[in-house]
Amino acid sequence: MPHAAAPADLTALFDAARAARAHAHAPYSRFPVGAALRAASGAIYRGCNVENAAYPSGICAETSAIAAMVCAGERRIAQLLVLGEGTDPLTPCGACRQRILEFAGPDTLIYCGSASGPGLARTMDELLPHAFGPERLAQGAP
Ligand code: THU
Repeated sequence: MPHAAAPADLTALFDAARAARAHAHAPYSRFPVGAALRAASGAIYRGCNVENAAYPSGICAETSAIAAMVCAGERRIAQLLVLGEGTDPLTPCGACRQRILEFAGPDTLIYCGSASGPGLARTMDELLPHAFGPERLAQGAP
């Protein structure tokens, strides 16, 4: 059952992502996003989108959650849940898929959540097939 996860685990992630979304700085898009990830230790790290008057300088919720994880000394994502407002699932943007891949494994589950719940679980292979990742880079190293 690769897409199964204990409901209690998901409740904690969902609540953390919603709490993070409440702190989003999204005055330009008016599209607040929250993300929460469970790292290998079991700890949960959260992030929100942080926009900027110089638009391209803004960062996504997933990116800020990953930064919090790395800053705490962790390197592995077990589960990540991202959500916006509304009932449609929020799927990570292309750049965030690449950033998540860096710290994901084949069993890492990405939950594309919504206001209604954690949504559907997807693997990185499903979200970013034929990806360029750390393993391929290592093959080219001298
Ligand atoms: N956004 C995220 O935070 N994560 C995504 O995966 C999709 C988009 C943010 C970026 C921007 O602040 C706002 O949503 C609208 O694009």
